[in-house]
Amino acid sequence: MRFCLNIDHVATLRNARGAAEPDPVTAALIAEHAGVDGIVVHLREDRRHIKDRDLYLLREVIKTKLDLEMAAVNDIIEIACKVKPDLVTLVPEKRMELTTESGLNVLDEMDKLKSSIERLHNAGVPVSLFIEPEEAQIDCSSEIGADFIEIHTGVFAESKTEEEQFDELDKIRIAARHAKKLGLGVNAGHGLDYQNIKLFRELQDIDELSIGHAVIARAVFSGLDNAVREMISLINGRKD
Ligand code: PXP
Repeated sequence: MRFCLNIDHVATLRNARGAAEPDPVTAALIAEHAGVDGIVVHLREDRRHIKDRDLYLLREVIKTKLDLEMAAVNDIIEIACKVKPDLVTLVPEKRMELTTESGLNVLDEMDKLKSSIERLHNAGVPVSLFIEPEEAQIDCSSEIGADFIEIHTGVFAESKTEEEQFDELDKIRIAARHAKKLGLGVNAGHGLDYQNIKLFRELQDIDELSIGHAVIARAVFSGLDNAVREMISLINGRKD
């Protein structure tokens, strides 16, 4: 499984003081040096963390891959077509949420998502849809031309009992298999951390993980380089 680091929280901390530091661009370079496979940022409509300046600079300096999370709205699609990230992940976006709360309902928003995918494809940008691990969502994602799906792992991550956790893991396993059979790339993320990754890493059919909060939180105490290396070694199966 490849590991892409979401650096939104570095920008959140910077913006808390309206200052220049910590700079998410510096974070991206340190993370690359520590071995991540890519950098993820979410350019929200309200610009609460990542700003346009961050995105343009990241596009220039990072050497791995840039995954841009965004809502399927005109202004941001225009920016994405200019910046040309290596992947766009379309997510639902609500103004009041603290973080993305669930996957897209692809069935309900088929037309809007299909035309967004077409615009991004015309600019040469592959597209992933952030969805729940449900067959109908996967089928519909494939039908409207998505290249990847990103499976929402939040329910798995927040499971209160072991039984619930294994049930959720099973749903994700089945969904990932199904998506692969349709020829989709399969990413996963939300709420993955240094504990639950030990179960999650056993799944087949997941190409790439998108992890943010747990790694940036750990970096506050042990430094970003250490936090990234620790996560990479767990994803690669280190036992402890
Ligand atoms: N994937 C998506 C689509 C997200 O919106 C987020 C949160 O920004 C993540 C992955 C990473 O989640 P977390 O910060 O909980 O690791």
